[in-house]
Amino acid sequence: MQIKSRIRTIAHYPHEGIMFRDITTLLKDAIGLRATIQEIAKRQKEVQIDKVAGIESRGFIIGAPVAYELGVGFVPIRKKGKLPAETRGRDYQLEYGSDRIEIHVDAIQKGDRVLLVDDLIATGGTAEAAAALIQEMGGEVVECCFVIDLPDIGGRSRLENQGLKVFALCEFEGG
Ligand code: PRP
Ligand code: MG
Repeated sequence: MQIKSRIRTIAHYPHEGIMFRDITTLLKDAIGLRATIQEIAKRQKEVQIDKVAGIESRGFIIGAPVAYELGVGFVPIRKKGKLPAETRGRDYQLEYGSDRIEIHVDAIQKGDRVLLVDDLIATGGTAEAAAALIQEMGGEVVECCFVIDLPDIGGRSRLENQGLKVFALCEFEGG
């Protein structure tokens, strides 16, 4: 509970009926932040990881310190138009409309074992697109790690149905 209890819920943000799981209260807490990074990193201590990939923007906050802790490099997967060199991109669906994430073509070497990190999985659309980009670059997605899973929305099953391994530090029922 040292992690889940530090996550704040804001009702009806950003829309009526949405329970927003706010990690800023976890991040500002020294014990909570350290526990979050160490819990994710320690799972990989016996596993070979070559890179950590984090998804803009909240995935950067978690992913970069996990990479540092594991002693490997960090790859940013960014929203469209932000990366300066040659990229590959994927569109994915949002609640309303769609968005696009991109990766540098030279960010992942063929055969790299990549840990994918984001703060939260809801529909799984963002992580699915990110995993597909890593695989398109020849990388192997060792695990998809999240701080929060919203199991009722079904993102975990969506990723697992594609053969991806999924781990989350905590779950919130009811979306
Ligand atoms: C949120 C969250 C995840 C994604 C999860 O990011 O940080 O990245 O949505 O949703 P999904 O599983 O339904 O795809 P958001 O796009 O709101 O942007 P942010 O990280 O920049 O705040
Ligand atoms: Mg995000």
